[in-house]
Amino acid sequence: MPKLAPLDEKITLDQLALNPYPIYQRLRQESPVLRVKATGRTFLTKAADTQYVKGAPELFSSDDPNTPMQRAFWAQTLMRKDGAEHRRERMAMAGSFKPQVVENDWVPRYQQIAEEYVSRLPRGQVVDLFPALAGPYSARGLAVLLGMEEASDEQMQRWSQALIDGAGNFAWADEPFARSDKANEEVHSLLDSLHSKYQAAPDNTAFSLMINADEPIELKQIYANIKIAIGGGINEPRDAINTVVYGLLTNPDQLEEVKRCNDWSKAFEEGIRWVAPIQVSSRVVKEDAEIRGCLIPKGDTVMTIQASANRDEEVYENAEAYDVYRAKCRHQAFGNGPHMCQGNRVARHAVGEIMLPLLFDRFPNLSIPDDSKVLWRGFGFRGPVQIPVLLH
Ligand code: HEM
Repeated sequence: MPKLAPLDEKITLDQLALNPYPIYQRLRQESPVLRVKATGRTFLTKAADTQYVKGAPELFSSDDPNTPMQRAFWAQTLMRKDGAEHRRERMAMAGSFKPQVVENDWVPRYQQIAEEYVSRLPRGQVVDLFPALAGPYSARGLAVLLGMEEASDEQMQRWSQALIDGAGNFAWADEPFARSDKANEEVHSLLDSLHSKYQAAPDNTAFSLMINADEPIELKQIYANIKIAIGGGINEPRDAINTVVYGLLTNPDQLEEVKRCNDWSKAFEEGIRWVAPIQVSSRVVKEDAEIRGCLIPKGDTVMTIQASANRDEEVYENAEAYDVYRAKCRHQAFGNGPHMCQGNRVARHAVGEIMLPLLFDRFPNLSIPDDSKVLWRGFGFRGPVQIPVLLH
């Protein structure tokens, strides 16, 4: 009879938010399956285990009734559904993510937005790339794709953060829910006002496709899934841009080679391997399971830590380093299984093929004047929260 996984009572949420990587490195060696008291969940830190769990939805469900996400989003979003119900809702948006639609409709718009936002950066000055470029660029592109261009960059980013904070409000405190409620109200009010526009002139935006479908999903779910895309479609490209810029600027030899060979997509893939923008994903165990000889009882929540999987020594050499030219860069940053990131193609274009080459073309001598001013944070989501660069 297998035993429960060992229990850790020392790891804190603050340590994880500050820098989880040394902890994950130790856990991969010592306790790859570990119950972590501070999170109330079982950590899985090895690549084979995180991949296995996400690919076995019949045993590991995305429907976690104990998270505050449903409260924060006023509905259960597709991210927390399984099986046919999940598929139906995911398919409702799928038309916006088709390769042809991405290439014909979104890539030209992202290019235009990138041009505009990079052009307005103040040459010769030190600016924090997060609010000056990476955040607004990601917000604008997403507003276009979802069909809510009427929202400002500020609104998109504020809604996104409020929904994320609400979904992560495990203390069930009032203030984060007050902010997510306000975001819900504002998003609903904007979407309400857009029905007639898209009924009159349908297009390939996610909102238009969903409301004009022959058999539309429930309106509440259309709104919920637009909101999950707002919560899950801004942070990651933003953090990926900042992470890759940092990785390249602190490895000038690699930057030179990337410029010479036009390897921006490789630089992007390695960036999200190195620091996965979504670091962890939870699943609820539906039947008693066993991983590496440990019993994971029915009802437990496991955290598949793709951030750690992406640095697993069994898969990568010198895994802790940013190395665009490593032999193997397949990673789990977009997840796998039925919930694999629906926006991965858009993100690959928006960051790897559009923003990175443009930024380094316009500012060929871009630099980080003071490395100590670059601040990294985050356990669930991670990236530089401040990255001052000299624009020249
Ligand atoms: C570098 C950028 C991105 C990264 C690293 C990323 C990562 C992820 C991951 C790991 C998941 C799976 C979560 C799970 O298994 O529970 C996911 C799901 C999702 N992502 Fe992304 N994402 C990125 C960009 C985007 C963008 C730009 C969009 C929208 C345009 C988007 C839309 C979604 C949606 C809708 C889901 C939910 C899919 C489902 O549950 O079926 N993502 N993303």
